[in-house]
Amino acid sequence: MLQIQENISLKPYNSFGIDVKASFFAEIFSESDLSALFKNELVKTQQLFIIGGGSNVLFTKNYEGLVVKISIKGIQSETKGEQVLVTAGAGEVWNDFVNYCVEHGFAGVENLSLIPGTVGASPIQNIGAYGVELKDVFESCTAFEIKTGKIKTFSYADCHFGYRESIFKGELKGQYIITSVTFSLSSEAKINTSYGAIETELHQRGIENPGIADVSAAVAHIRVSKLPDPSTIGNAGSFFKNPVIEKHEFADVVAKHPDVVHYATSDDKIKLAAGWLIEQCGWKGKVVGQTGTWKNQALVLVNHGNATGTEVYNFSEQIIDSVKSTFGVTLEREVNIL
Ligand code: EPU
Repeated sequence: MLQIQENISLKPYNSFGIDVKASFFAEIFSESDLSALFKNELVKTQQLFIIGGGSNVLFTKNYEGLVVKISIKGIQSETKGEQVLVTAGAGEVWNDFVNYCVEHGFAGVENLSLIPGTVGASPIQNIGAYGVELKDVFESCTAFEIKTGKIKTFSYADCHFGYRESIFKGELKGQYIITSVTFSLSSEAKINTSYGAIETELHQRGIENPGIADVSAAVAHIRVSKLPDPSTIGNAGSFFKNPVIEKHEFADVVAKHPDVVHYATSDDKIKLAAGWLIEQCGWKGKVVGQTGTWKNQALVLVNHGNATGTEVYNFSEQIIDSVKSTFGVTLEREVNIL
């Protein structure tokens, strides 16, 4: 039975561990819960915020509205020759889904091990790590249209995926709630270890012909060594996007900073490593009040205990100003600010 609670602390529902309240809160376990929720009069008067794992949001104040947590579970698979179509409920914890695939020998998501968050959030910002993006394994997703209450299916082409972007963050923002995602995986592993650190890690483990479980373990090990565990140190992964700039802008940067870490993108632009830019400005591992950057990865902002969202936000402004004045590059936040 759908329950709407009042005046609920959101601390357990955001990986930054920021202690703010929501005026109203509802947890959704099925599509019929969603239909029931949107028939409720309250929905018409409140602003809405949809939350999965709460791992990509910074709350700077109490949420005067209704927070809807998606907890729709379930994983099914269908084998078609080598291809395996795996459908997971939006509320499945992303890493539980990855583990399920690795255990069943379904290849494709092993490089995305240990990314925080839920399956339903994964297409929204086209999550990615270690040389693989969600879009590489995405088949389709289903989503509840808020205006009509209908469930619609989105194909790969419908989603307009880009670097940490999709139509759900852009044109259709606030219009749909993802209820399930179908992934196109394979029973024949196509191992992707091109991302430097994975090969080194596998080599150190003495593994020459890795399977997907080896890749998953190596990625998990790299992540744990570099990134803070949100269950002990609040954070939301990379706080900023890696800035993508035009070639002529890059010429100015590299003239002054020849060692700038950068990558070419498929659309003939240049992506800079934001962590490197931030570290060069002297911020890596800095502790400022209850916030700061992580000691092993300057792109991750952390809550050292009782940070307020505003404290973290103001700190991020300082970083943006400093990177702008040193490199002439504007960092954009990857995390949603509320
Ligand atoms: N670097 C530094 N100093 C730092 C951090 C990084 O010099 O403090 C340098 C590294 O040495 C490396 C380069 O920057 O040469 C890139 O660093 P890394 O490989 O750690 O990756 P990233 O670009 O910082 C991105 C994603 C991560 C993902 C990793 C691994 C974004 C915004 N972030 O980080 O995703 O795990 O690649 O693939 O694209 C996330 O989105 O929340 C996230 C954690």
